[in-house]
Amino acid sequence: MHSGRRIVNIALIGFMGTGKTSVGRLVAELLRFDYLDTDEFIQAQTGRTISEIFKTDGETKFRELEEKIVGELAGRAQTVIATGGGLPVNPENLASLKAHALVVSLWSSPEKIWERVRHQGHRPLLQGENPQAKIRELLAAREPFYKQADVLLNTELRSVREVAQQVVHHFRVKKSGRR
Ligand code: S3P
Repeated sequence: MHSGRRIVNIALIGFMGTGKTSVGRLVAELLRFDYLDTDEFIQAQTGRTISEIFKTDGETKFRELEEKIVGELAGRAQTVIATGGGLPVNPENLASLKAHALVVSLWSSPEKIWERVRHQGHRPLLQGENPQAKIRELLAAREPFYKQADVLLNTELRSVREVAQQVVHHFRVKKSGRR
């Protein structure tokens, strides 16, 4: 079990296009917490976009930057952390987040994800010839990691507000020690 957990933050994990950013912003607003997006943080720290980092330094370098950022989050409190879709594939990242945050996984089907991301061009992993196949492949590979969250929420049939309210509910239950 995760003894010694001090749950003062909320971390949202999940595939690209599952709603981490919109849900995270609303949860932060509802709880009056800070909002932090790991991709935005990396872009601010490096002065480069995620696409540029992938292009010039490669994915491995980007994953190193992610791991570094996750390590720095341990000192935070009252923060909603929206993570990049591949971040929890590194077990150290997940373990590190669990030490201080309730980890909530947002889930959608590959079809819904495609519908949400198809008109966006900022995700290097989906710029290949067959992004739909890539979504299915990556989602299947990552499913075991996303399922290690404390809470799993399907965002497909719920509005952003409903999902955000669910997140807040689970956080309050956890804080009050009722579960
Ligand atoms: C990635 C997801 C992106 C971003 C990068 C890699 C992934 O974040 O970190 O493009 O590996 O799934 P979002 O999940 O916020 O799109």
